[in-house]
Amino acid sequence: MTIRAVAIGIGHYLPERIMPNSEFEKTLDTSDEWIRTRSGIANRHVAADGETTSNMATKAAQAAIDDAGITIDDIDAIIVATSTPDLTFPSVGTMVQSQLGMTRGYAFDVQAVCAGFIFALTTANSMIQTGQANRILVIGADMFSKIMDYTDRSTCVLFGDGAGALILEGRAGKGTNEDRGILSADLNSDGRYKDMLYVDGGVSTTGTSGHLRMQGNALFRQAVERLSATAHHALGKVGLSDSDIDWIVPHQANIRIIKGTAKKMGLSMDNVIVTLQDHGNTSAASIPLAMSVGKAEGKIKRGDLLLTEAIGGGLAWGSVVIRW
Ligand code: UT7
Repeated sequence: MTIRAVAIGIGHYLPERIMPNSEFEKTLDTSDEWIRTRSGIANRHVAADGETTSNMATKAAQAAIDDAGITIDDIDAIIVATSTPDLTFPSVGTMVQSQLGMTRGYAFDVQAVCAGFIFALTTANSMIQTGQANRILVIGADMFSKIMDYTDRSTCVLFGDGAGALILEGRAGKGTNEDRGILSADLNSDGRYKDMLYVDGGVSTTGTSGHLRMQGNALFRQAVERLSATAHHALGKVGLSDSDIDWIVPHQANIRIIKGTAKKMGLSMDNVIVTLQDHGNTSAASIPLAMSVGKAEGKIKRGDLLLTEAIGGGLAWGSVVIRW
């Protein structure tokens, strides 16, 4: 018998305010046409004044709890993937714990920027398989609108705010790749590329939260190769191949990266969940947001084989294979 971390509930939250590309045309030398053709993004959601990352995470978490038909008392642990916490500490996880009224178990954050949800899912899977917890709420939540330099057209048009949450439950599987749940994962990072995407502020340097800086084109050139390689490593670990995949649920950074990765894996765009036209790049939230939308639209169904992949600051990148 093998313990598998099975998805039992999913939900998301997006701030009310939708910001279309046309808003940037008023203050920057840019156009709706450039943003759409170079990135695939048309709109993004932007948090209201006073809204926080933990507020968004809590709303997504409650939606996932409702979807699973359980209560907060059934959750053993909370893991939040974020790089835009409310405060330097405590963790967004503990803030969500308090907002949900959970007074037992444990909560913490993981930080792997845009790949954060992949690292959080893999951590949750290991904790379930080693008996540290049986039901884990895994959240990706980010508020990149707070770290944008709104005078830098090469970055500020790309990102948005949001949160997505997935509940994993340990269940007995047969140990084959037919089992439901997380089947394999592949994690990577290479700190030599730390200057490709970073925030120019922090506690031990400037004492400020800083602004996002990105060498977009250099990162773009790294992405497709690394994403298809990590996908193949994860699939290969459990004897699966590209043609077994029902849905790629990619990190939503750029439609050209998403299309390039699908093509490299021999899959049609009919097998890819795409939400970036509506959400922009929501960093750690982008994968659970896309999963939640994909399920709500009736695309992702029980038994489907999902491949999730992401790359971002670090560089950090990876993938998770999960049967829904
Ligand atoms: O989530 C973390 C992972 N992030 C990513 O994976 C992002 C990866 N990178 C990308 O998505 C793309 O590189 C971008 C969308 C950021 C940029 O697209 P690109 O095709 O790589 O464009 P580029 O950076 O090579 O810039 C091309 C031109 C430049 O002008 P010149 O030097 O050719 O005159 C830029 O200054 O486009 C210009 N440009 C813009 N023009 C209008 C850059 N941003 C804008 C803009 N509007 N917003």
